[in-house]
Order: sequence, then structure tokens, then C-alpha cells
Amino acid sequence: AVLQKGLLANELPIVTTNPNTLEEQAKKKMPKAGFDYIVGGAGEAATMDANRLAFRQWKIVPRVLKPTTPRDLSVTIFGQKFDVPLLMAPVGVNSLFHPDKEIGVAQACAELRVPFTLSTAAESTFEQVAAAAPESPKWFQLYWPNDEEITASLLKRAKDNGFTALVVTLDTWTLAWRPYDLDTANVPFLLGQGDAIGFSDPVFRRKFAEMSDGGTPEENTLQAAVYWIGETFSGTSRSWEDLKILKKYWDGPIILKGILSVEDAELAVEHGMDGIIVSNHGGRQIDGAIATLDVLPEIVDAVGSKLTVMMDSGIRTGADIVKALALGAKAVFVGRPVVYGLGINGKEGAEAVLAGLLADLDLTMGFAGVKSIAELKRSMLRKIQHSG
Ligand code: FNR
Repeated sequence: AVLQKGLLANELPIVTTNPNTLEEQAKKKMPKAGFDYIVGGAGEAATMDANRLAFRQWKIVPRVLKPTTPRDLSVTIFGQKFDVPLLMAPVGVNSLFHPDKEIGVAQACAELRVPFTLSTAAESTFEQVAAAAPESPKWFQLYWPNDEEITASLLKRAKDNGFTALVVTLDTWTLAWRPYDLDTANVPFLLGQGDAIGFSDPVFRRKFAEMSDGGTPEENTLQAAVYWIGETFSGTSRSWEDLKILKKYWDGPIILKGILSVEDAELAVEHGMDGIIVSNHGGRQIDGAIATLDVLPEIVDAVGSKLTVMMDSGIRTGADIVKALALGAKAVFVGRPVVYGLGINGKEGAEAVLAGLLADLDLTMGFAGVKSIAELKRSMLRKIQHSG
């Protein structure tokens, strides 16, 4: 409806509606360091390409002359009803992209009732995001600190500020080989203006003061950032057994992000997890990792009745969302496109991208002949590989 109103008023959209030129528009408008950080994948970007190719290989077989209005895009996840099956993926260091930062994206999500996921690497605090989007659903993504006291503090602040589910990212215990950042000496976590989630944490501040003779993170930005990164990129020291620690401090749903194998999905069930996000981090970690859509069906078949399977990596259109849901995901997350929108035009830009994606989803469902998300089934898709 937002887009249609604009079209009727003969207004040009503030952000291109063309998924193929969004990146180009962002490149023209954004600071180089920020753009490079978003656009980059690991290695030669083979996994980024694979994510898109996997979507292209599945084709929708539409039905006609079926009642498709009014359409209901809602889904229920962990007992909570969401108006749409799309969530904002956690994306850190948003000050590199636009001064509206995470607060702007959270507000854009709130306008469209898209659940927002706040990253541990965010540069807006729990308190700021909660104040900016008090009514809308909010989840928290944890880069799991080495220090249990800091972990407990982050989880308590998330809970106190109305964040209802915990996403634990497991594929990024350190940053991968990312040429876009390496070749430009782009150190995004240091270029950002200090990590607000970290720097604002009372336990982190106390520990930093102890190790720096009473210093504050603001006075010693570089040293504090290095300490914070060392904490949250916790290396390979974690095991499945450690998930108990999180349960001690978090009584809501726990979702593991970065699952790509049936074996790990089954271990998530065994360890009492509530959900998983089938994700390759948008192709930013292992170059050569399998596309998420290529493993989604087997993971859904193995564990889909035991926990909530969601997915991300490569979602660019409404048809992509239809395909992922038809293959069994309960909801999907989107990353880069929204952040390009933020870079192009702040909160309004992020909102325009999300509104476009949702309008495209709504139209595609209607044209496919479905009225609700529950009607999206694997039988409406065919996998076809065109050669050449
Ligand atoms: C990310 N992603 C990410 N994931 C996470 O768990 N914590 C984080 O702080 C970040 N930060 C981040 C920054 C940027 C610039 C990007 C592009 C991505 C990964 C993100 O949550 C998601 O998995 C991918 O973005 C999904 O792929 P698409 O939609 O970008 O193709």
C-alpha cells in the first residue's frame, strides 16, 4: 500500500525497487568503508553466488481461479503471532552505514511490524532500541562472550528491555577471510564509533576500568574495542555442553544461527534448543559453503517437527520468501538489502526496502494462488537446472 500510494501520487521511490540495482545505488550514496563492509563476502564470493543460484533453481508452479484475498501473511513463532514471516537479521556496526543506525532500522521494522533482531555488535543500546520501538517484537543476537559475567549482564539487559528470543550466532567465532575488508584495511569493528552494546554494559565497564586503571571505554576507544572484540569473538572454545550456561541466564526461546548440517540440527534438538536459523551468514564466513536453500529441505525433514527451522542468506525478492517457506522454513531473515536501504536514506530507506519486499511477497502469493502462509507447500515448487 505504501508503494501504491507513492505511484498514484506520481512519486519516485526513494530507494530503487529493483533488487539488481540496489547495490549500485548504495555504492553511489554510501561511505566507502561502510559499503565495502556490507557488500563483501568471504573469499571470491562463491557462496554468495550459490545462495542466489539456489533460489533461481526452484520454480513456482502457480494456480489460477482460486480465492486469494484477503491474504494473511501472519505466522506464529514460539507462541507469538507476527504479522509477516520476515524478520530483520542481526547486522552490527550500523554507524558505518548511516547516523540513524540500528535505531532507524528498528523503527523502520516497527512501522511494518517486522520483528527486529539486535546484534551484539550493535552501536545502539538495548535501552535506545526499546525506547524507539517499544511495541514491536524484538530479539537479541548474541556473540557469545568468553566471560560468563558479561554474558549474564547482556542477557539480563536484553530481557529487561523486552527482547523476547535469543539468537546465538555460532558461525562467527572470528571474522573470516574477507578480501573487501582486508584489501582496504577496513576494520569495521574499530571504525565504528565504539560498540554501544559493549561499551554501555556495566559489567564490561567495570572490568575495563579494573584492567586500565580506572579508564572508561570512551577515553580509550581503541583499547576498549580490542578488549570487547576479544571477548565476543570467543574463538573455538565453546562446545554443545556449554549451551547449559545460556539456559542458566535465559529462560525464553534460544535459537542457534549458522546451522548448515542435519547432524548439527539434530544436536540442537538433543540440547533442547527451540529453533535454528539455517544460515551461511550471507556468504561472509566460509567461501565454498553450501547455499542455505540447498540444505533447507533435508534439515526440515529431519527436525522440522521438533524445533522451529528458519533461514537466511540470499533473500532478495518476494518469490525467494515464498520458496523458502514452501520448502519448510517457518520464517526468513533478510540482511544486506535493508542495510543498503539504511545507507541510501536512513530509516526511510530501510523502511522502503522492507515495504517493497513485503509488497512483492504479497503479490507473489496472490499470483501463485495462495491465501495464507500455511498454504505454501513443497508441492508448488519444482527444481529445474537450466544449463548454459
Ligand atoms: C551481518 N550478519 C551478522 N550476523 C550476526 O549474527 N551478527 C552480526 O552482527 C552480523 N553482522 C552483519 C553485518 C553485515 C554488514 C552483514 C551484511 C551481515 C549476517 C546476517 O545476520 C545475515 O545472516 C546475512 O546478512 C543474511 O544474508 P543476506 O540477507 O545479507 O544475503
